[in-house]
Amino acid sequence: MEKLYEKALEAYNNSYSPYSKFKVGASILLKDGNIINGCNVENASYGLSNCAERTTLFTAYTKGYRKEDIEKMLVIGDSDRPVSPCGACRQVLVELMNLDCQVILTNLNKEYKTLTVDELLPYSFNNEDL
Ligand code: THU
Repeated sequence: MEKLYEKALEAYNNSYSPYSKFKVGASILLKDGNIINGCNVENASYGLSNCAERTTLFTAYTKGYRKEDIEKMLVIGDSDRPVSPCGACRQVLVELMNLDCQVILTNLNKEYKTLTVDELLPYSFNNEDL
């Protein structure tokens, strides 16, 4: 857990967020013990910005990992409460992680809130609906 926090904080510090100035970092613990991290990367065309959760998940998938390989995710932001993932990221989590996978939300004060993917986005639209 401490290692996962440290890796998310490392990514947080690499955040490219000159517009919002709101840094976010995320890390994923894989079942093979590896940890992947990522940060939010913004753009002058604001809508093209990518959140830390998506950066991290896309990196894991790029390396060949899939939902069944993911143990848990941790997300850190400089917010008063444990950072809350945006709606777009919740939808991506539903697609790329198991619904019972834990997502640990935290902040710089080390306050924690742990939810499953399903709790983050209940009654979600997913590939079984197609
Ligand atoms: N952001 C994330 O990266 N993850 C979250 O959980 C919340 C929001 C980013 C998007 C944008 O770069 C900045 O934080 C402000 O919205």
